[in-house]
Amino acid sequence: MGLPTASGPSPLGHRIGPADAAVATELDLLPVLRDNLVPILHNSRQAVVVDPADAAPVSRWLQERQLELVAILHTHHHSDHIGGTPGLLQHWPGAAVVAAAADRLRIPLQTLGVEDGDRLELLGRRLKVLAVPGHTLQHLAYWLEPLTRRDAAASGSVEGDGNGEDSGGDLFCGDSLFAAGCGRMFEGTPEQMQASLQRFASLPPATRVWCAHEYTEANLRWAVTVAPEDAAIRSRLEQVQALRRQGGCTIPSTIALERQTNLMLRAPDAAGFARLRRHKDGFQG
Ligand SMILES: [Fe+2]
Repeated sequence: MGLPTASGPSPLGHRIGPADAAVATELDLLPVLRDNLVPILHNSRQAVVVDPADAAPVSRWLQERQLELVAILHTHHHSDHIGGTPGLLQHWPGAAVVAAAADRLRIPLQTLGVEDGDRLELLGRRLKVLAVPGHTLQHLAYWLEPLTRRDAAASGSVEGDGNGEDSGGDLFCGDSLFAAGCGRMFEGTPEQMQASLQRFASLPPATRVWCAHEYTEANLRWAVTVAPEDAAIRSRLEQVQALRRQGGCTIPSTIALERQTNLMLRAPDAAGFARLRRHKDGFQG
């Protein structure tokens, strides 16, 4: 299973899709299964999906828009993240499968193994790989850098896709960081997971956070029991409950909002984080 024909090494790392930024990209979010969310980065011809839990709805979404799937990004090996990959490869056998090289045994369909600090170019957009252990030992996140003003001008639009120079880019963080929470600590230590969360906290505040599950309301219902006096958390819970009653999706969040209202991200040290994680694990909300 090789890389797509448009791919190859570039000065920024592996390139997948067109070399120039002449075609503006957009980001959509597709809900699948019970509460999984699949981010889809695309232009008018090609698409990249993150953690496709289920092939059929993703495939249908792409085919309705006549998009060619050129790459699948995996954050970690859990079945509700890699489950759709075999089916998608049947439709688009040339799509690259990007995943942690160190998790090759658990993500066997990968065609491009990556590690912390690697850089890719996808559909003309720059992307950086972040190792964020905790939920699993080899968990990765992908940070899509914001378009610069020069990129936006090259795309023929001052606005670009809304990710202008003032934006913080887009973070695909799988099950490591959730809106108002974080993933369960299945494999890593509190020290590892808290360090991973602090890496997220240090990203530009305007970075949009595209996590892999719609858990925001449940996380906030827990958070208000831990910090009942926190006005920002209470206010966010009320907003999220209103949005969910209307059937809305709470993702993407932003790093700024998470720094303000996510107790896991706000934990000052590993011991404090470990206490919160244990409390949340036992919470019956
Ligand atoms: Fe997971």
